[in-house]
Amino acid sequence: MTNHKRPPASLIFIFGGSGDLNYRKLSPALYNLFIDDWMPEKFCIVGIGRSPYNDEDYRTRLLNGINQFSRRKDEQNGQWAEFSQHVTYLQMDAEKDNDYAKISDVVKAKEAEMGEHPNVIFYLSVAPQLMPDIAKKLGALKLCGEASTTRIVIEKPFGHDLKSAHELNQLLMSMFKEEQIYRIDHYLGKESVQNILSLRFANALFEPIWNRHYIDHVQITAAETVGVEGRGGYYEQSGALRDMIQNHILQLMCMIAMEAPVSFDANEIRNKKVDVLNAVRRIHKEDVNQFAVRGQYGEGWMKGEKVPGYKQEKSVNPNSSIETFAAVKFYIDNWRWQDVPFYVRTGKRMKQKASNITVVFKEAPSYAFPPEAAETWKANRLTISIQPEMEVRLRFQAKKAGQSMTLNPVEMVYNPKDGEHEPEAYETLLLDVMEGNPTLFMRADQVEAAWKIVMPILEAWETRAPGNFPNYSPDSWGPEDAEALIAKDGHNWIVTKPNP
Ligand code: BG6
Repeated sequence: MTNHKRPPASLIFIFGGSGDLNYRKLSPALYNLFIDDWMPEKFCIVGIGRSPYNDEDYRTRLLNGINQFSRRKDEQNGQWAEFSQHVTYLQMDAEKDNDYAKISDVVKAKEAEMGEHPNVIFYLSVAPQLMPDIAKKLGALKLCGEASTTRIVIEKPFGHDLKSAHELNQLLMSMFKEEQIYRIDHYLGKESVQNILSLRFANALFEPIWNRHYIDHVQITAAETVGVEGRGGYYEQSGALRDMIQNHILQLMCMIAMEAPVSFDANEIRNKKVDVLNAVRRIHKEDVNQFAVRGQYGEGWMKGEKVPGYKQEKSVNPNSSIETFAAVKFYIDNWRWQDVPFYVRTGKRMKQKASNITVVFKEAPSYAFPPEAAETWKANRLTISIQPEMEVRLRFQAKKAGQSMTLNPVEMVYNPKDGEHEPEAYETLLLDVMEGNPTLFMRADQVEAAWKIVMPILEAWETRAPGNFPNYSPDSWGPEDAEALIAKDGHNWIVTKPNP
């Protein structure tokens, strides 16, 4: 028996139903929600694609994905058999106007079957160039006028640059109300990212020192060991800055830098975040070299295995100047953060899979202890690990046991080690869509504000060929220039050790 309120009846159409995201993430997420009793009592999931599948074959394909990628891998006491009865497949050509009548027919049939009008959710997990056309065709359906029950979910990338993102927003907003549009940034659904809000705003401890008077600088790293994993075609249009910094990393920066919300109302939280983006100092195109570094991995070895360089990956131009690593130094010009650097970096084929945020505090203002008391003076720092595990580490000085006064840095660690029970980001986000809660989704102005920040860097990089690519080896921490970017300010990138 559930002791929580389940979302209302929902009919979920997944465009890209035979695609990779649905296979690896969306279906496993919906299945786990079902096991945890979070799916509505009445629901139906309709995969939409061009490939010919009957319902049975389609379900078998999804089960394969679940067996490989779900946090719960094995069949849970016949739950798959029950869940899969709610899944069907609709073969259609999303580019053909006439095919959209099939959607209206399904809605009518399901309405009759459920005995009520369900939420109708359109999840667009398709190539970015198809988004506008599909959105237009959906917008023409009568049911999309029902703002309280019809929702459209847009997977990233949201636009290719500021102009295309603005155009997509205009188009969506000409057909849907803002509260119907759910722009995904899956990082926001991660448990560990949501935990930043509780850490900052449910404790009296941190907030008084969370500012330029006590914080020296902030670092955000999102490092991956994988390469582009067969997504060369997409990545050639993207690169690390668009793929990770414009969205995920800037959102993490907002969580760290935002003012305290006065409530958990979706717009209140999003207002506070967009304030941060609007305060980020603009980097001039001519100064990009002082603030940003790009890199591309060459061929080499990863943990004893030979791996190709980016230029040798499938569907990648052998002369590609797309970056697979990016590091940027940002400033946020407001009372709280003036002159505190935020160093961010992301890269593929790096030494360690690790996403974390480290807040480095200023040195203690005066040391009464004699110099010999301290083997290594180190500033306090707070590290929030997003993945591979949620963890919070606070470093401070303590006395070593013994008769003499000797100090050394120690750490307090919070690690819930709850991986298997932790909902995946897409579970949280899909549940929020069914419940109609847009807090963790990007509003139009947030997306555009984030594009404005990265545009000068993109433009500078597009007009100046990198010249030295590839410039880092697999299994490293990226190009040397990235070290120089932070070293010139007297700092170094912090590497947190993986847990034993
Ligand atoms: C996606 C990017 O948004 O995030 C990928 O397109 C990247 O390139 C992925 O690998 C990282 O997400 P996660 O949840 O695995 O850290």
